Amino acid sequence: MNDAAVAALHKWTDDRLDDVKGEKALKPKVYTTYKLQDEVRELLTEHCEVTEWRGEGRTPREVLLKEIGDVEGLLTGGPSMVGRIDEELLSHAPRLKVVSNVSVGYNNFDLEALEKRDVIGTNTPYVLDETVADLAFGLILSTARRIVELGRFMQEGNWKLSSKYHDVYGQDVYGSTLGIIGMGRIGEAIAQRAKFGFGMDIVYHNRNRKPQAEQKYGAAYRDLDTLLAESDFVVLMTPLTPETLHLIGEAEFKKMKDSAIFINVSRGQTVDEEAMIRALQNGELYGAGLDVFEQEPIDPENPLLRMPNVVVTPHIGSATAKTEYEMARRAVKNLVAVLKGDAPLDPVGK
Ligand code: DGY
Repeated sequence: MNDAAVAALHKWTDDRLDDVKGEKALKPKVYTTYKLQDEVRELLTEHCEVTEWRGEGRTPREVLLKEIGDVEGLLTGGPSMVGRIDEELLSHAPRLKVVSNVSVGYNNFDLEALEKRDVIGTNTPYVLDETVADLAFGLILSTARRIVELGRFMQEGNWKLSSKYHDVYGQDVYGSTLGIIGMGRIGEAIAQRAKFGFGMDIVYHNRNRKPQAEQKYGAAYRDLDTLLAESDFVVLMTPLTPETLHLIGEAEFKKMKDSAIFINVSRGQTVDEEAMIRALQNGELYGAGLDVFEQEPIDPENPLLRMPNVVVTPHIGSATAKTEYEMARRAVKNLVAVLKGDAPLDPVGK
């Protein structure tokens, strides 16, 4: 046996002994609450010992609490599939170092509980901005031009040349005024489409003014009430925080034009849904395009599902194959960075 072979044999033996003694850093244990894409699983298993939920949707809470006793990393994800990360959950995972959300929103994190237990939370910004902006625009167009409703009308054997022809008129998107509440990166991606694709006038409301966006998109800053009164389309893009909970309610719907269209691709709880339903039923709002709901999955009895002037999608803002993959990769990088003792790309905090 030559020296190299002897050294290799010693190393192999030492490794096994270390493993047995538990002194060697084994791959850290990670739990993922949803079924990963194959490439993402490969990336993660290079660095971690992975237990993956292979059932429908995400791991049920009661199962999750039993599975995380010795994990150091938790990957939680899929749009609309992130569960609450709170004190109860953290108390079941004493070794946990990082919770990596496969989503830009992290309203499922109890930030105080994470901080108290020195657990880092991360999200996946940037990679989904354009995809979510596409969906917001899809909802604007389909609600204004009544695409879903009229498609159904035609599938039922109708055609526009009837005595009620004018009843199927929609509204112009081109040249109208768009109000964006929450001018973050996604808000700006929507503004870009509005300005350069549809010649819209843009007004916006945000915690801080955005001089660059004002210059680039000709966006004019407004207080919330003025924005609501001026806009033909109101797009809500704020994250869900204690300050934005039910940001739009009865009073705000009353301030909008009766001809206004309301779009929500942020979080359902930013809107008082009952007030929105009343505004739609009373003709105080022309229509709504909604990707998010106060309760998800939505109650099949929710009247929003039966209103012809409402276009709904099941929380799919970022859900294209490419973007979901990019988000999962980013979430894995965040998770692995923390487990290796490095700084994650996207830590979130208070
Ligand atoms: C997110 O990532 O938070 C979005 O809700 C995706 O649609």
